[in-house]
Amino acid sequence: MSVHPVYGPNPFKLGIFSANADGGLTLTTVPERWQARWNDVARLCRMADEAGFEFFLPIARWKGFGGATNSREHSFETFTFASALAAITERIGIFSTIHVPMIHPVYAAKALATVDHVSNGRAGLNIVAGWNPDEFAMFGIHAEAERYAQALEWYEVISRIYGEDAPFDFAGKYYQLRNVSGRPQPVQRPRPVTFNAAFGPPGRDFAAQASDFLLTTFSDIDAGKAHIDDINERARKFGRKLGVFTTAHVVCRPSQDEAEAYYERYAVTEADKGAVDYHMTQKQKFAGSHDEATFRLHAKRFAGGAGTYPLIGTPQKIAGEMMRMHKAGFAGTTVSFVDYLGELPYFASEVLPLLRDAGLRVA
Ligand SMILES: Cc1cc2nc3c(=O)[nH]c(=O)nc-3n(C[C@H](O)[C@H](O)[C@H](O)COP(=O)(O)O)c2cc1C
Repeated sequence: MSVHPVYGPNPFKLGIFSANADGGLTLTTVPERWQARWNDVARLCRMADEAGFEFFLPIARWKGFGGATNSREHSFETFTFASALAAITERIGIFSTIHVPMIHPVYAAKALATVDHVSNGRAGLNIVAGWNPDEFAMFGIHAEAERYAQALEWYEVISRIYGEDAPFDFAGKYYQLRNVSGRPQPVQRPRPVTFNAAFGPPGRDFAAQASDFLLTTFSDIDAGKAHIDDINERARKFGRKLGVFTTAHVVCRPSQDEAEAYYERYAVTEADKGAVDYHMTQKQKFAGSHDEATFRLHAKRFAGGAGTYPLIGTPQKIAGEMMRMHKAGFAGTTVSFVDYLGELPYFASEVLPLLRDAGLRVA
């Protein structure tokens, strides 16, 4: 097995995020909005693979956000999705995003190992605790106050399935399991690469123990550095070191004016205001996933890309922002687009060479 792409040679890694869901990361009514139909997603993933992107990361969603579009209601389940993508790609890392409370760890261990075999060691797991009570209610469960305490047990069950030779009993607070086993073991040892997107302290302490990379948002790049210091400090207590990725939405055009005019159109004039209200209200009440300033100052970023960082402008501007991210210590970023398939070729042909010139991409 070769090394997982997230450990590849590029100093600044790139992933495509949320292409499995209607709207991608946007909440907009423009007609070219991403519909996440399978043939388009498959083409996109192959395109990203050929362009040298390190990973393809789906979002885990069970319910739409209402409004005019009910964005995200249509979203593909991420283990089965990953297996299909693994079979049609060559190099790119294929992640699944899994809600701990909804998916049992014995099932998750087997599903993830399956993807790892189909992809020959390119699987990855993004472990999320969930934040939307409307989604929990569909499963008849309540959001646990100690979501990440459950996540630690969940992670331990999977680790033991992969690591132990004999069946074991597990007597935890959240899981009481008898005679647990599961084969195959994954191709990656001791387990596939893990991501986690926690923001608050309990989640970050979980990430410090169970994740290889933290995904984090920030309101501006310089403030992002504080998040990296924070996670490094937490990881050190467990004798570990994590990489940190951030997450961004992209409008890349030949001129700055053109990019900004399009951003204004899809994320303000033609934003899906009902869906934006629902998303921001639920996030603010239940997720704590962003700096307070992001909610206060940047409503546009929620329609534009679910509160992620905006990379809006010319190829030079966007490459420059990525250089700043790299300098702040980020291992890379995810990107998303209004129309992934229509916009990725321009990004790949114009931005990637600039990143190469700057030494951020070498492969
Ligand atoms: C890049 C990224 C991806 C995320 N993906 C999901 C997801 O697919 N499903 C989900 O319910 N939450 C997702 N989240 C939200 C986080 O899992 C988490 O709930 C949020 O960051 C709040 O952090 P906390 O759990 O520490 O409060 C994502 C967050 C980020 C930054």
